Amino acid sequence: MQTASLPATTHPSVVIPGPSLAGGDVYYPIDLDGLVMDTVLDFNLYLEAGDASYVLFRSPNLPFSVTHRNRLLDNGVRTLYVRSDERGHYTKYLEENIGSVLANPEVPQRKKATLLYGVSRNVVRDAFDEPRSSAIVPRTRRLATETVDFVLQREGAMAQLASIMATDYYTYTHSINVCVFVVALAHQCGVARADIQELAVGALLHDLGKSRVPKELLNKSGDLTSEELELIRKHVEWGEELLGQHRQLSPVVMLPVALHHEKLDGSGYPRRLTGDRIHLFGRITALADCFDAMTTRRSYQRAMTGYEALNRMQTVLRGKFDDLLLEKFIRMLRRPDAA
Ligand SMILES: [Fe+2]
Repeated sequence: MQTASLPATTHPSVVIPGPSLAGGDVYYPIDLDGLVMDTVLDFNLYLEAGDASYVLFRSPNLPFSVTHRNRLLDNGVRTLYVRSDERGHYTKYLEENIGSVLANPEVPQRKKATLLYGVSRNVVRDAFDEPRSSAIVPRTRRLATETVDFVLQREGAMAQLASIMATDYYTYTHSINVCVFVVALAHQCGVARADIQELAVGALLHDLGKSRVPKELLNKSGDLTSEELELIRKHVEWGEELLGQHRQLSPVVMLPVALHHEKLDGSGYPRRLTGDRIHLFGRITALADCFDAMTTRRSYQRAMTGYEALNRMQTVLRGKFDDLLLEKFIRMLRRPDAA
């Protein structure tokens, strides 16, 4: 592997391509904007040198300075590469530094939204993979703080995050989408910032109990048997049980988890609560959860448009959601700068 301080070719595109294979190694593209100036990296950085070959640009444990960044930008480079065996180092680095990335005025808003979304997906995926890990709560809390700050402090941030929300249905991305809607809607309802923060943690983890449901069942197309339906519905209690083992959690975090499938008319589960007996935070999460589920493509159903989903919630599903909340939600989605 040769080393290089500058690429021989220019890279005018800012579109991040997929992973590439070279010399037996897989290289993953990373965005230059995800690197924070004057931080020490614990992974190698590579440049694409054409013909699917890569040259070493920066060795680990050396600071990445503004001089390096400017030299790359002068040469039109906005994409660097990490080797597959070091990808986890980069992911961890970005998660630890996402606050600095989001605070950097030189990084475009849309890029910030994309990077935050990527970090969120990793954190939520890890939570589902290892729901009992003690690292889950502090990582989710830090992520929730960044998400709340991003959604509430930047004009149009919710719309930006919403526009990059994945069209494929995965439990992780669904959790992030619900969190973004919940934060914005709670803000519209005048919920205090400290509570929004806790609510965001709960929204990110609201479906954690699904980590115990077989994946084939979650993605099954066609009708579910009553036994299968019962098993899927257990995810609410399982989520409460899993989170109950984390002692650092506030009771507010539990509300979205416990109440997100309750419906105002008592047709929800598992407690079949009605009306105001469902805490506001549960009603907010139930609405966001249903809207995102309907507007996201699943293995067994096409995605509805936002208009179709809201229309359905106002007609066929009338009585199941809080009318006032639904009105606020519709108004919020209509405004392109909603936050
Ligand atoms: Fe759920």
